[in-house]
Amino acid sequence: MTTSWCLITLLTFTFGSVISQSNINVQNLYTLLFTTNGYNKLIRPSKNQSVPLSVHVIFTLYGISGVDEIEQKLTATGWLEVEWTDELLSWKPASYGGLRYIYYPQGKVWKPDISLQNGFSKLKELGSKFISVFIDSNGLVNWRPFQVFESKCDIDSTYFPFDKQTCHLDFVAWSLSNKDVHITQGRMGIKLADDLQRHGEWKIISSTALNLAESHETKVRFTIVMQRKPLYAIMNYIMPILLLSILDIFTFKIRLVQGNA
Ligand SMILES: *[C@@H]1O[C@H](CO)[C@@H](O)[C@H](O)[C@H]1NC(C)=O
Repeated sequence: MTTSWCLITLLTFTFGSVISQSNINVQNLYTLLFTTNGYNKLIRPSKNQSVPLSVHVIFTLYGISGVDEIEQKLTATGWLEVEWTDELLSWKPASYGGLRYIYYPQGKVWKPDISLQNGFSKLKELGSKFISVFIDSNGLVNWRPFQVFESKCDIDSTYFPFDKQTCHLDFVAWSLSNKDVHITQGRMGIKLADDLQRHGEWKIISSTALNLAESHETKVRFTIVMQRKPLYAIMNYIMPILLLSILDIFTFKIRLVQGNA
């Protein structure tokens, strides 16, 4: 009995400040950040504009949807987790009833124009209008665009159906140079989703992340190594051909027998 009372008191004490926030606190904070402070999403959110902003990227692979040998294309589904600190979006939680984080539509805050550099189709903005970014009181912004990524990939089928393929997904801030942003992999680099979708023909055998620094830009390369499941190709391409050719020999034999008769 005494222990549970202690626990309840402790819980109230620890989370008391969080529970006390109201809609007015949230509204006041929105007014401060986006109206009073005159937030302009076109301005890179660093107080010192000569210091490049660090942007961390993590890629979570949800599944391979297709590998096209003819078009040399990999279609992968997953989401990026892009994180940076927006120095213009920070506040003191104590002044807002202990409010520690908010969500805001992705189109209304500054974000790096990260895109897939070796994409297959035209360059487009990641995420979508209805996605919100997470912002905490230190100004840490977390943005998670979910996407179907189509990338160029050199597919070499010499050892078909026992081949292994390596495909890269290169992410770069398209118009920003390394004087503006530094893009690097986040702590996890690339990870496979817990409920990774299996592909009938391909098995993912490894995945790695690499930071690349070029003369005027930085980028992150995510690499996926896949192995073809030979059974799929044997059952679907090789067996039918073999069976048909065996059948062919027999029809020839039957014709011969009939001819002799
Ligand atoms: C901004 O950063 C640069 C490079 O680190 C430094 O030399 C400069 O003094 C800083 N400016 C201000 C106003 O802090």
